[in-house]
Amino acid sequence: MIPTHVTLVDVSPRDGLQNEAKQVDAAHKIELVHRLQAAGLREIEVTSFVSPKWVPQMADNAEVMAGLQRKPGVRYSVLTPNLRGFEAALATKPDEIVVFAAASEAFSQRNINCSIDESIERFRPVVEAAHANGIKVRGAISCALGCPYQGEVSPDEVERVVRLMRGIGVDHCGVADTIGVGTPKRVQAALERALRHYPLVEVSGHFHDTYGQALANIYASLELGVHTFDASVAGLGGCPYAKGATGNVATEDVLFMLDGLGIDTGIDLNALVDAGNFISQVLGRAPVSRAGKALLAKRAAAAEAKA
Ligand code: HMG
Ligand code: MG
Repeated sequence: MIPTHVTLVDVSPRDGLQNEAKQVDAAHKIELVHRLQAAGLREIEVTSFVSPKWVPQMADNAEVMAGLQRKPGVRYSVLTPNLRGFEAALATKPDEIVVFAAASEAFSQRNINCSIDESIERFRPVVEAAHANGIKVRGAISCALGCPYQGEVSPDEVERVVRLMRGIGVDHCGVADTIGVGTPKRVQAALERALRHYPLVEVSGHFHDTYGQALANIYASLELGVHTFDASVAGLGGCPYAKGATGNVATEDVLFMLDGLGIDTGIDLNALVDAGNFISQVLGRAPVSRAGKALLAKRAAAAEAKA
């Protein structure tokens, strides 16, 4: 039995844009969030409170958060790698924060400049402070299916970080395939390790689509009952510290599959395609989403036939 309802977390304003070389205006980022919430997204990862020297694209984090017209029922999350980031984020009133560790030592060093164990110690006061302020904490485990520096990553390595996250009170465990090398059975093996320590409702998948495996991996996750996934409209995304890794799975493509399976998400595909088209135009390129491109072409053909 696969789930009847799925929660999609659109991470395009953060993961989608963090890697863009050309600075995107705060006003466009805000408009993207507004379009996503209008399409029915109820979870949106807006920005990150990281060093602007490391990730210049996210330097306007507070401006973007301040510019949001928040919609009731929508949860806005932000990345906070340390207490400094959390304090800056707190002033902008996020509903949820995300701490991010890696299953590989090499990636931890490149991404956040410390070892896995050191990162957990940095997160400990962040989790405490978030909980003291009534804010939920999501944890992301990068490179859970493979690492650009280390290569193979085993389920044991994933479970070690899951246990550490659980130990400091992180509420939710996101299993992330940063470089998109996971395949369905391996994804299930990684998720099973998360499910040993977290309930189904607090485990999610975050799949980059570099090798075209993301939809198959989502289906494999559904078979385990996992029903929360990160995705990025127009297939935007990438990590500055995982060169060559392409975007997250496109939210439009995931939605097209879920709609076809009769799984409820509360999201309107047409409005989502518009959101993807909007941000792609801002970036000056076509959406990477296959479903998005197909639906835009269908619309154009219908308009031409009418003219
Ligand atoms: P560090 O150099 O180890 O820390 O950076 P530091 O405490 O020595 O500080 C260095 C400088 O950063 C100082 O400034 C600090 O003030 C400043 P300076 O004195 O050089 O002018 N600083 C900060 N500034 C703003 N906000 C902060 C902050 N903290 C320190 N919070 C740090 C540690 C984590 C900050 C750094 O390594 C960093 O920002 N890394 C970027 C990490 C990142 O954003 N990666 C991409 C997101 S993760 C991702 O994409 C994966 C995910 O999608 C899942 C997946 O796909 O795998 C989630
Ligand atoms: Mg990512």
